[in-house]
Amino acid sequence: MNDTILVLNGPNLNLLGKRQPEIYGHETLADVENLCRETAAGFGLGVDFRQSNAEHALIDAIHAFRVGSAGIVINAGAYTHTSVAILDALNTCEVPVIECHISNVHRREAFRHHSYVSLAATAVLAGFGTHGYALAIRHLAHLRAGRAA
Ligand code: DQA
Repeated sequence: MNDTILVLNGPNLNLLGKRQPEIYGHETLADVENLCRETAAGFGLGVDFRQSNAEHALIDAIHAFRVGSAGIVINAGAYTHTSVAILDALNTCEVPVIECHISNVHRREAFRHHSYVSLAATAVLAGFGTHGYALAIRHLAHLRAGRAA
């Protein structure tokens, strides 16, 4: 088990801060990356922070961290609601997977209420804003302490 958490962001999250700020807020993805690094460092953990608009790149990242890492935090964006391929990749993971959404998807359009990612997730966060990423990392650190014991 190594010390690195994969924080994986899907389509359109590169536009965080510019994209529908009334829903997703004004923080940028670089701000989220800093938050993740600071939070993980507090637990002696590192972060590999990635974003892609391409489904295959998200799947390749999951494959790279599915075994032996400190876990995966995934905000798959709209692929959450559509991608059986990402679900299949997550189902190969031997490490904990935390699904994270900035907005409360359950308060939004009906098509956002179903998540393929949730079928493979250890835990799900939605509606905590970007703070949800920090909560997800805290939880991975907590699980890791339990696994190491
Ligand atoms: C999102 C919610 C998704 O429904 C949406 O497609 C996104 C962002 C969130 O973080 O709230 O791209 O995952």
